[in-house]
Amino acid sequence: MRAILFLCLLEAAFIHANDYSWRGPASTGTGPVDPSTENVCLTDQASCGCCLMQQQIHRMKEFFNMSLNELEKELVKTKTALNNVRASRSAFSVALTNQEKLNCFGPFRDDRLIPYSHIFINLGGGYNAVTGIFTVPRSGVYSLALTVYSDAGSPGNTLAACASLLVNGQLVAGPRERNMQDQEDSASIVFALHLKAGDKVAVNLPIGCFLCDNSSHYNTFTGFLLYATD
Ligand SMILES: *[C@@H]1O[C@H](CO)[C@@H](O)[C@H](O)[C@H]1NC(C)=O
Ligand SMILES: *[C@@H]1O[C@H](CO)[C@@H](O)[C@H](O)[C@H]1NC(C)=O
Repeated sequence: MRAILFLCLLEAAFIHANDYSWRGPASTGTGPVDPSTENVCLTDQASCGCCLMQQQIHRMKEFFNMSLNELEKELVKTKTALNNVRASRSAFSVALTNQEKLNCFGPFRDDRLIPYSHIFINLGGGYNAVTGIFTVPRSGVYSLALTVYSDAGSPGNTLAACASLLVNGQLVAGPRERNMQDQEDSASIVFALHLKAGDKVAVNLPIGCFLCDNSSHYNTFTGFLLYATD
């Protein structure tokens, strides 16, 4: 009695499950009913039920095993993608100095790269505080920002808050405030740029320009990877 009830329940479960094609796309095709089973069903009803049940259980096992295998494959793919994202993390943000006393860098008789020495963050280690150069670790679209500030010392003095952002020595953009009206001035640029792995990004201080700073961090240079393209 119990066995019959179980079979009925099982049958109901399969009818229901078939609506949602539980056999899945990669079913090895155990077929609906084996012909030999049909013969048994004609002669021995009990064996037939048992055999059908075994077939169904086998198909169920295959179905769940297949689903599990596919889930595991997806998990491996997702983990790999996540590791790639983690490995390519790149962000730096630096300031000219962290000294309490206001000091000026420049003016010089020649162009110089600005060695921003105070590091807020240098994720991925692409920025070199000695040279002031950021070496692009991975090709992608980067967000870059540069803020300059200068103090002429007293009103009427020449103020030259200027700098230029270079990629592989080529000028890309530069904020510039040169006048004799203001004692202090500040300017910023922010933009997105497609950079290749190995590109060198730095800030140049042109002849005559000078930037002043203390631990208030008025001069900052920032870059981070928006998304990788390789
Ligand atoms: C489950 O699938 C794996 C890989 O396809 C196979 O090696 C294993 O024998 C299967 N197990 C069962 C119970 O079907
Ligand atoms: C930095 O210098 C400016 C201008 O002289 C001054 O107003 C500011 O208080 C200084 N910042 C610190 C942290 O001392």
